[in-house]
Amino acid sequence: MLSTTHLLDIDDLSPEDVTRVLDRAAALKAGEDDTQLAQRTLGMIFEKPSTRTRTSFETGMTRLGGHAVYLGPDDIHLGHGEPIKDTSRALSRYVDAIMARLFDHEDCEKLARYADVPVINGLTDEAHPCQTLADLLTIREQFGFDGVKVAWVGDGNNVGQSFVLGCALVGVDLTVATPDGYGMDAAVLDRAAELGAGPEIAATPEAAVADADVVYTDVFVSMGEEDEREEKLAAFDGYQVNADLLAHAGDETKVMHCLPAHRGEEITDEVLESDRAVVWDQAENRMHTQNGLLVELLTER
Ligand code: CP
Ligand code: NVA
Repeated sequence: MLSTTHLLDIDDLSPEDVTRVLDRAAALKAGEDDTQLAQRTLGMIFEKPSTRTRTSFETGMTRLGGHAVYLGPDDIHLGHGEPIKDTSRALSRYVDAIMARLFDHEDCEKLARYADVPVINGLTDEAHPCQTLADLLTIREQFGFDGVKVAWVGDGNNVGQSFVLGCALVGVDLTVATPDGYGMDAAVLDRAAELGAGPEIAATPEAAVADADVVYTDVFVSMGEEDEREEKLAAFDGYQVNADLLAHAGDETKVMHCLPAHRGEEITDEVLESDRAVVWDQAENRMHTQNGLLVELLTER
């Protein structure tokens, strides 16, 4: 049983919860756990586009013997006059859990406040905890957590912020390099420090990746930031994960990206297509970790 009803950010989980979800995910992935969620339904609210999150939750529920309902921006009354609190209470009468991809993190909190069922954050402007679960399983599969060194290079965005917290929860050694003005929120760094392990802040991408076993990046321009595109691309000059930057890391260093990738911006095609990239394992692990989470949230309470 997990110590939380909802997953709004990764630090809603305790370190023990994270281990429990990752162990369950690994067992489901290996075919060693046949727990089913028959007759259970997941409602999936999307204010933003998605390839991986939508498909991994939907196929994940099918694999577990349940069902998922896609509720896109033009499918429901949310965003067209019906408030979140009404959406939340109505959906709670039909579905067993709600997954939501929203712009405003406070809307996700409001959804959870009014819901009678677990609410899972499928990405907000501030956080992407489901991505972090997949990232942690991928790192654990590749290296284990003991002694592994990870570098985050790029934007201090939703994916990066949840990843910082996730690394703090499991004790992974993380170094972060972000351009001036685009670092992680101070409150997130404080939360990581309270968990016992805030990241080291590097002055340059080169310093961050030195000795790293894993280099992780995400897009420079996130969904909803399109108007800041030119300004951000200029600010992120020098932060691209490319062969020159990886020359400062080891030959065996792996590269992670939550995807979708913008080749030529935050990462080169060459790196993404190289043996260093473990991005498809990350993408696959979205489904296994979310299934682990759903089983833990829906069968163990
Ligand atoms: N990584 C991730 O969340 O991808 P999608 O936007 O395709 O869901
Ligand atoms: N930071 C990106 C992640 C996409 C999965 C965005 O918010 O668009």
